Amino acid sequence: ENVEISYGETRSAAAQKVKIGIYFATWWALNVVFNIYNKKVLNAFPYPWFTSTLSLATGSIMMLISWATRIAEAPKTDFDFWKALFPVAVAHTIGHVAATVSMSKVAVSFTHIIKSGEPAFSVLVSRFLLGETFPLPVYLSLVPIIGGCALAAVTELNFNMTGFMGAMISNLAFVFRNIFSKRGMKGKSVSGMNYYACLSLLSLFILIPFAVAIEGPQMWAAGWEKALSQIGPQFVWWIAAQSIFYHLYNQVSYMSLDEISPLTFSIGNTMKRISVIVSSIIIFHTPVQPINALGAAIAILGTFFYSQGSCLDYW
Ligand code: 3PG
Repeated sequence: ENVEISYGETRSAAAQKVKIGIYFATWWALNVVFNIYNKKVLNAFPYPWFTSTLSLATGSIMMLISWATRIAEAPKTDFDFWKALFPVAVAHTIGHVAATVSMSKVAVSFTHIIKSGEPAFSVLVSRFLLGETFPLPVYLSLVPIIGGCALAAVTELNFNMTGFMGAMISNLAFVFRNIFSKRGMKGKSVSGMNYYACLSLLSLFILIPFAVAIEGPQMWAAGWEKALSQIGPQFVWWIAAQSIFYHLYNQVSYMSLDEISPLTFSIGNTMKRISVIVSSIIIFHTPVQPINALGAAIAILGTFFYSQGSCLDYW
C-alpha cells in the first residue's frame, strides 16, 4: 500500500511540474509578443501612460465579458477583499507604468537586463523589511546579479536615466506586488486568473487620473493622428496586440504564481527575460557591445546561482 501511495505522490508531483512548465512556456511566449508590439507602438507613439492604461483597460473589459458570458466564473468578493487588494494594485500600477516609461526611453533589452535583477530586490526586501533570512549562497549570488546589471548599465550605448530608474522602480514595486499577491491568494476562493482580473480593474481606476494628468487626451489625440499617418491602419492592430497580450501574459503568470512561491516566480520571470532580450535585439537591431552582453550574462548566471542557493520551494 505504501508503495502505491508514494507512486501516486510521485506521479502527481511530476504532473504538477509539467503543469508549471506549460504555464511558464506560455507566459514567456506571450510576453515576447507583448514586448515587441509594445515597443513598436512606443516608437511611433511615445505615450507610455496611455499604453499602460489601455493594457489594463483591455484586460478588464476582456474579463468583464468573460464573467458576463460565463466563459469564466465571476469571483465572489467582499469589501475586505478589495481593501486587501488595494496596496497590491498600487504596486502593480507603479511597476507597470515604470517599466513602460522605461521602455519608451531605452531599448527593450536594456529595460529587461535591469529587470533581471528582480530576485536581488526580492531578497533585499524580504531581509530588511520582512526580517526573513536566507542561506549564505543566496546572499553571495547577489554579487553577480547586482554586479552584472551594473556592468550592463554603465556600458549601455544609449543609457538614459529615466529608462534606468523606471526599470529599478518597477523591480521594487513588483517584489511587493508578488509577495502581497501570494498572501492575498493563499487559501482564498479568489485565485489565479480572477485575482489578476480584479487587480487589473483596481489598477485601472488608480492609473486613469494620473495618466490624464501627466499626458492627457490632447497629447494622445495629436500623437494618435501622427502615428496613424506614419504607420497606416496597422497601427491600430499593434495597439490591440500590445494590450491583449499584456493581459494574457499576466493572467498566465498569475495562474503560475498561485502554485509557486514569489521567489520561484521572480526566477521564472528572469529566465523569461532571456527570450525577451534576445528576440528584441534581433527584431529591433539593437546595437550591443561585447562588454555589455557580458554584464547581462553575468547577471542572469547570478540568478541561476540564486535559484540553486534558495532551493526552489513549492515545486
Ligand atoms: C509591464 O508593462 O508591466 C512590463 O512589461 C514589465 O513587466 P514584467 O515584469 O512582467 O516583464
